[in-house]
Amino acid sequence: MQQKDYWDSVSNNKEFTTPFQREAFARYVSQDALVVDVGCGYGRTLQELKEAGFRRLMGFDFSAAMIKRGLRQYPGLDLRVMGSPRLELEDGSADAVILFAVLTCICRNEEQQALIAEISRVLRPGGILYVNDFLLNDDARNTERYERFAPLLGVYGAFELPEGAIVRHHDPAWIAELLGGFGRQKYGTLTFTTMNGHKSNGFFFIGKKPQC
Ligand SMILES: C[S@@+](CC[C@H](N)C(=O)[O-])C[C@H]1O[C@@H](n2cnc3c(N)ncnc32)[C@H](O)[C@@H]1O
Repeated sequence: MQQKDYWDSVSNNKEFTTPFQREAFARYVSQDALVVDVGCGYGRTLQELKEAGFRRLMGFDFSAAMIKRGLRQYPGLDLRVMGSPRLELEDGSADAVILFAVLTCICRNEEQQALIAEISRVLRPGGILYVNDFLLNDDARNTERYERFAPLLGVYGAFELPEGAIVRHHDPAWIAELLGGFGRQKYGTLTFTTMNGHKSNGFFFIGKKPQC
């Protein structure tokens, strides 16, 4: 199954759960900033920001069905389908970008790097990137599937769920390398509850695009 088809197929029956630390975010980003949520799903984080007084909000997702649900659930939001990996935004136009539980949907290092480069293109110098995502776990259920799928998917930590999604849990060293171009403001690890109700290690990262 194409991964976009998977996200379309579950658009009406998943609730996303990775935690948004709004107070930490608000220390770096003002309410009149242009905040862009990449892989926004049905827009839960943008709605939370709207309710907190943020006024310039945009969301992009490659799943048209996810965007359709978001527009139905939160009709006041500006949510758009991403028809290509390029975001429909000018260079340096965003003050902040949010990327929550999207890297986990992208198995290959090169594709993750291309997404981060595209985000960096649209962020202004000094703009903020806030990422959260899943880290490797060391319990038997996870390590068995990491080992089983590593030869097939080419990376330790990626695996296919029975329902057809391919997802990835990340080595912290890879995350440090991937996000190394941003000046780290805040990083922490947490236990997440997954969209299927399991526990997993996770991280959050708030970084700043260098001024030049
Ligand atoms: C686990 S959900 C998280 C949604 C949202 N960020 C949240 O936390 O509520 C992952 C979302 O990323 C989207 N997605 C996955 N890969 C993507 C890509 N390469 N480009 C754009 N959206 C993508 C999926 O369609 C899905 O809506």
